[in-house]
Amino acid sequence: MTKFLLDSGDPNEYREISKIAKYGGSEIWGATTNPSLIAKKLAGQKITPEKAYELQKEIVMEIIEIVPGAVSAEVYADTNTTAEAMTEQGIEIAKWHPRVVVKIPTTLEGFKARTALRKEKVITNNTLVFSQEQIFAICLHEKICRKSFDLIDPPTDGWPPFISPFVGRLDDIGQNGMDLIGNGMRIKELFTDKNLAWMLEASVRKQNHIKEGIDTKIELITAPAASYREWFAKQEFKEKIKNELKPIDFWQPPQKLIEIDTIDEFMSAIVSGKLNINHDLTDKGIARFVDD
Ligand code: E4P
Repeated sequence: MTKFLLDSGDPNEYREISKIAKYGGSEIWGATTNPSLIAKKLAGQKITPEKAYELQKEIVMEIIEIVPGAVSAEVYADTNTTAEAMTEQGIEIAKWHPRVVVKIPTTLEGFKARTALRKEKVITNNTLVFSQEQIFAICLHEKICRKSFDLIDPPTDGWPPFISPFVGRLDDIGQNGMDLIGNGMRIKELFTDKNLAWMLEASVRKQNHIKEGIDTKIELITAPAASYREWFAKQEFKEKIKNELKPIDFWQPPQKLIEIDTIDEFMSAIVSGKLNINHDLTDKGIARFVDD
């Protein structure tokens, strides 16, 4: 059954929405935070990245006390942040609590950091995901990491790494973000181990994002408080939304890519562009988080 996460940097919202969910016979299982959400709490004050890191830690530790499941916290990354810097932050963030999941951007440096973090058994959440190639690359990378670093397969407790496709931001550019969820779930099923990673539907803006996500049997959905206030208030969800967004056709990964099974081959496939993990919205997303 799909688990619900709240997309917020405000512990009070976790208290409020957890109560509403419980009243609706459901549960807020986990949390996602990001630089924009943490910035909201600061109401425009200028702070250093170090101060933002400290504040993020305080907020995450407070949220951990409220929800029973995974709480994602993001590494600071701009276009110049190296994999080493992301790895260093990720290892520190993972030490905050065993239920903390480390969010890293889905970029070339992000994949180098992912290799180092998975080697240390850190549970990652690939964020700013906008394409099927990116979803495929994360699944493939995870499969190779499990084999290369003898990771427990599937984990005996806890959960596997997460993949966060951003539906609302695709809708914003006129594409049907929910197609990325449906097609992404199909891509993940190409890998025989269904527990290789959990898909986490993010950037939720509308009620039908929640409804359709549940229909695809996605493992996780994260949505803002306003969406859940509406969602849990409904006895029965009947909304039909007229769909005017451009469909995203399924992308079939070539066999040659499916057969890659070493980190070196994987990295050369993404560096050469044979496996194209670039997406304009991933770059714009990094810039927006840095500004926030
Ligand atoms: C969660 O992990 C994401 O950071 C979040 O859902 C992004 O949402 P937005 O596109 O509304 O900023």
